[in-house]
Amino acid sequence: MRSWVLAGSRGVHVSPPREFRLTVNGEPRVISAAAERSLLSVVRGELGLTGAKYGCGEGECGSCTLLLAGHPVRSCQVKLGEVGTREVTTVEGLAREGCLTVVQRAFLEAGAFQCGFCTPGFIVGVTALLRENPSPTPTEVREALDGHLCRCGGYLAILSAVDLAAKRLAESGGSA
Ligand code: FES
Ligand code: FES
Repeated sequence: MRSWVLAGSRGVHVSPPREFRLTVNGEPRVISAAAERSLLSVVRGELGLTGAKYGCGEGECGSCTLLLAGHPVRSCQVKLGEVGTREVTTVEGLAREGCLTVVQRAFLEAGAFQCGFCTPGFIVGVTALLRENPSPTPTEVREALDGHLCRCGGYLAILSAVDLAAKRLAESGGSA
């Protein structure tokens, strides 16, 4: 069975909803939705995890960043049908037992947000960076965060937060 919707003058294929079994923030979740739905819309709509934001919808702003099997992805560009068995981690799933992570605390301490719209995406992106490379150079930080946009222009404070988090991780020997 196939269904179609019209987008402008083009026909866009939308398959009927079917069941998907996902692991989100360590929990098994069953979702009934079309395979073409974006992971972002499912996480926000069906699962009520609204930390990741819809900014551009085109993979350009980073506000929708989630971890898929530990790797940062633009979830507006990932289709539900592509997720498979890979674990999904949202910003809500980073804290453990009510304790903010080193990265989250560093953002708070550095005042690295104004409106906060971009913050969940940055926190997920920085977490992925520091898990892979706990002592990034300034160039590596800028490269890793290239594609995360902050409309409030809070980049200096965000870079300070990354420095602070890396410093705290070095002191503690812990992991982001
Ligand atoms: S909303 Fe996904 S990159 Fe902008
Ligand atoms: S703090 Fe407003 S968009 Fe970044």
